[in-house]
Amino acid sequence: MCGIIGFTGYLDAKNVLLDGLTALEYRGYDSAGIAFFHKNSIQTIKTTGKVSSLRDKVTSSSEFTSTCGIGHTRWATHGGVSDTNSHPHTFGRVTLIHNGIIENYHDLELELAALGKHPVSQTDTEIAAMLLDSLYEGDAVAAIKKAIKRLEGAYAFCILFADEPEVIYCLRNGSPLVACQTKEGSVIASDMVALIRYSKDYFVLPEMHIARLTKDNITVTDLDDVIINPKMLHVNWDMTAARKGGYPHFMLKEIHEQPESIRSTIAPRIKNKRLPDFSADEIPDQVFDHIHRIVIVACGTAMHAGLVGKVMMEKLLRIPVTVEIASEFRYQDPIIDTNTLLITISQSGETADTLAALRLANEHQSKTLSIVNVKGSSIARESDYVLYTHAGPEIAVASTKAYTAQLSCLYLIAYHFALIKGTITENDCVKQIEELQAVIPAIEKTLTLADEINKICLNLSEKEDLFFIGRGLDYALSCEGSIKLKEISYIHSEAYAAGELKHGTLSLVTEGIPVIALATQSNVYNKMISNIREVRAREALVILITNGESDVDSSIYDYHITLPKLSDTMAPFTTAVVLQLLAYYTSVHRGLNVDQPRNLAKSVTVE
Ligand code: F6R
Repeated sequence: MCGIIGFTGYLDAKNVLLDGLTALEYRGYDSAGIAFFHKNSIQTIKTTGKVSSLRDKVTSSSEFTSTCGIGHTRWATHGGVSDTNSHPHTFGRVTLIHNGIIENYHDLELELAALGKHPVSQTDTEIAAMLLDSLYEGDAVAAIKKAIKRLEGAYAFCILFADEPEVIYCLRNGSPLVACQTKEGSVIASDMVALIRYSKDYFVLPEMHIARLTKDNITVTDLDDVIINPKMLHVNWDMTAARKGGYPHFMLKEIHEQPESIRSTIAPRIKNKRLPDFSADEIPDQVFDHIHRIVIVACGTAMHAGLVGKVMMEKLLRIPVTVEIASEFRYQDPIIDTNTLLITISQSGETADTLAALRLANEHQSKTLSIVNVKGSSIARESDYVLYTHAGPEIAVASTKAYTAQLSCLYLIAYHFALIKGTITENDCVKQIEELQAVIPAIEKTLTLADEINKICLNLSEKEDLFFIGRGLDYALSCEGSIKLKEISYIHSEAYAAGELKHGTLSLVTEGIPVIALATQSNVYNKMISNIREVRAREALVILITNGESDVDSSIYDYHITLPKLSDTMAPFTTAVVLQLLAYYTSVHRGLNVDQPRNLAKSVTVE
């Protein structure tokens, strides 16, 4: 989604803004622009396409100097992709950039039209600039406060007022903004990846507060003009984590980071290397008292992690667990109460639908626990309890290391809760924790299968449709394999519970159609082999994945990927890595933009 960077200080602002926008490219965008003060007047340069094109345009305007400005990458929502619709937008004395959506922009536009004011773009953002300009009488904060009363929707703004040079005003409601103050100046951005080159210490601008950035200071006030000191946060990663580090793509780098990200996620939560311990996360055991039901809510890959979590939790806890797609859940009048534990899962911690579902659960006074990667994000802050995944920044749009880190957290929750409930013994729990730790070397081994998988992908990359099938945990993994492949290779694929194929979909399985068959679960292994025979009888091209060696009849597959042997419940970790590599190499063979697939954004902050 859109990216924001703002800077005022002692550096060349144009460079700071362009570097910030480059760092934010991973979020997905279709145009980019900057606005800055040059000799006390505001200059704007914007373009459709890549930040590199914007950089070229800026470089050719070298007559401009600046130490204060704002920059934006736009992911079109209202109005097509065009230079005019790109941000920043200027109206009168106001120039601004915006993330989010102004839902009542049309009503505002009609009101402004009655005053003879008309936009030149088709965007909701320009209407916000027009509104602010119409309310501005020389006092920026007063105008912003009046505008807040009129604006509906989710938004983050960085605003320049023409008659207040070198100052940036910021405001947010729903969409994130993080800021830091350094000796080089004040910086604000939509995410930490753009700030990290200046500082590891930052704060999240609280919602409905106004930040005023000057060269030496950031002042945050609430809507009653009371100055507040936001809580400072710290990240333990640096610039190298936000670079490719020798890999051709962020996605491949992040796939290879999984042993480390799982280790970092589980190690601090295992007491004496034996039992789960959430005391450092300040999650008391009482959270699990009187819980009769668990509802897991998330979107996309995070939701698929929830599908695995459901199997693990129901197995260990013997209480019902449902997994809900956040965009559906929020409109379903869900049955949740004070005895429900609602677990939200989100890499970004900002996904609009997941956040809305969490808010709904908070209204119902359910207990809320979130599994989040980004510190201080909205979902983390609004949940009763948070388990952070320590995966480091995930830059590729396709989620990989966040997914397996989410699985690790879900497994730990299941073990911890089961111990508290007494549904597993300490000895069993110790054994399961050992199995979880064994996942790390097993993933390292799985990564050595990359060349073998790459060769299979050469064949897959020429296909237009394929299927993933599996049973039990393998069905949950099939869903994840399918979304990963679709999003970065643009090959149509579907995930099916293997036993369900013959109830309709088998009619689509014809000669040469690839079927990626996951057979890692011993309790349904023979059933799975029968299902593979069904597709083989229709001459499907079968890619079989098994957990350890298997003496399966070689006539039923074309390719066989043998995972390092793990217990059934741990097989999702290694299977996920194979599915990620399958998607990755298929996309590479098709010559696509692996890290920034078309139409997609990393952090989906709109509904
Ligand atoms: C797929 C992918 C998306 C995200 C989804 C939720 O690879 O990355 O499906 O999983 O948009 O995002 P978060 O986890 O940030 O809530």
